[in-house]
Amino acid sequence: MFGRRRSLPALPEQPVAPVAAGATVADLPVAVPAAAAQRSAQPQRSVMLAGRDGLREKDRDRYYRLKQEIFTAMVEAVDLAAIAALSNEDARSEIRDLANEIVSLRDVAVTFEEREELIKDLCDDVLGLGPLEELLAQDRINDIMVNGPNQIYVEVDGRMQRTNIRFRDSAQLLNVCQRIVGQVGRRVDDASPICDARLQDGSRVNVIVPPLALEGPVLTIRKFRKDRLTLDAMIDIGSLSEPLAELIKIIGRCRCNVLISGGTGSGKTTLLNCITASIDDTERIVTCEDTAELQLQQPHVVRLETRPPNLEGAGEVTMRDLVRNCLRMRPERIIVGEVRGPEALDLLQAMNTGHDGSMGTLHANSPREALYRLEALITLGSVQLSSKIIRDMISTSLDVVIQAERLRDGSRKVMSIAEVVGLEGDTIVLQELAVFDVAGEGADGRLMGQHRGAGIYRPKFWDRARYFGEDRRLARVMEDLNAVGEAETRIA
Ligand SMILES: Nc1ncnc2c1ncn2[C@@H]1O[C@H](COP(=O)(O)OP(=O)(O)OP(=O)(O)O)[C@@H](O)[C@H]1O
Ligand SMILES: [Mg+2]
Repeated sequence: MFGRRRSLPALPEQPVAPVAAGATVADLPVAVPAAAAQRSAQPQRSVMLAGRDGLREKDRDRYYRLKQEIFTAMVEAVDLAAIAALSNEDARSEIRDLANEIVSLRDVAVTFEEREELIKDLCDDVLGLGPLEELLAQDRINDIMVNGPNQIYVEVDGRMQRTNIRFRDSAQLLNVCQRIVGQVGRRVDDASPICDARLQDGSRVNVIVPPLALEGPVLTIRKFRKDRLTLDAMIDIGSLSEPLAELIKIIGRCRCNVLISGGTGSGKTTLLNCITASIDDTERIVTCEDTAELQLQQPHVVRLETRPPNLEGAGEVTMRDLVRNCLRMRPERIIVGEVRGPEALDLLQAMNTGHDGSMGTLHANSPREALYRLEALITLGSVQLSSKIIRDMISTSLDVVIQAERLRDGSRKVMSIAEVVGLEGDTIVLQELAVFDVAGEGADGRLMGQHRGAGIYRPKFWDRARYFGEDRRLARVMEDLNAVGEAETRIA
């Protein structure tokens, strides 16, 4: 059957090892994610959520069995690796012809829609990242969490939901993991079971496989957002108020040193990205990240990325190495994607040695906690400095802490903007400029509330604002923020 297809047209570029008869997708060679380039061109199918409808679940089981049958027949009939090496269009057309022939020969009853879905899924298996392709194509999905082959969760509009999509088995999932990490020259296996990588579209990926992950390979993807969120867009979705967005823009323009604090997935990197929009085009910016996520729009940006050790444990370049090195690169601003180690000290030193306007993000639940964490990171870096000296350094280097949070209704908000006022005795004094007050829950389950000023009309960075010609704007913004605060007090 289909013997003629064994002689496919001459293969382009690098030769690909043939796949043995009886193989599965898991046996396909790695790094052939041609589908990624085509992803955005594919019509988007909406993700079905699991557990909604028992009949559909049964349909799904039948569908997966059918897909496996056709896939096995295809493997027996043709050299799938050769198909994978064709141009995307040719490969899709080959797979379509084959699948149609197999379905007709086997006399399987499928509707037109099922046949189309089947062909698309088979193309994704052979050419791309299998079941993930469908999820990657959906713009509304932020995060994809694969917990073994049978359980895939996504975050849609801020809410975690289980999908009814699954991998055929652990081997197929592991193969997809290898394809992904293969793109950054890595492999995951018993010897190195953890890996960070990036998809071609910029999405950030973490892979952890057995024996560390007990239920099979676990894949976590933070999808790269094509429509970059801006402060104005955040006002529209309620993450910020207009005066708060203005305040953030002024903070960026005045070259304040800023730390963005928040829990995991609270929107720290997105906020950092937004603040960078206020940076002048003339400035030289150096960014240091573990996985490059920032999308700065300025022309003069140098992007640096850390490097994990290789299989022999050599060649690691840490965040600290990068931050230290970038001090020798004549930066005007240094931006650290995530501060989570001893680089905290180097960033602070950069902040008070002429690199005003430097920024970073840090995991913490409040501005106060962010300062404790910063101190702890410096101490853990085995620096023999007293806590008084470390606190003094923090208070003279850092100007503003912006707190981001993902609330229980799935929305993301700026919860607080606080400025570092100075050191009183052993305590760093923080003063809140604006906060978000939760007022209750609406009928739709959404949390209600508003951003208001905290009664400060003249922030400590006032002189800095005047130096940059932003003092009048700052006065107006603080008035607007505090007007909300005062109205609230009157109502109470
Ligand atoms: N204000 C917002 N409204 C809606 N979605 C947002 C908002 N801010 C960020 N997001 C989305 O939430 C997800 C997490 O955002 P982001 O990567 O900025 O978080 P993070 O705090 O840096 O996460 P991590 O701790 O993993 O680094 C992304 O998909 C992003 O597009
Ligand atoms: Mg982040």
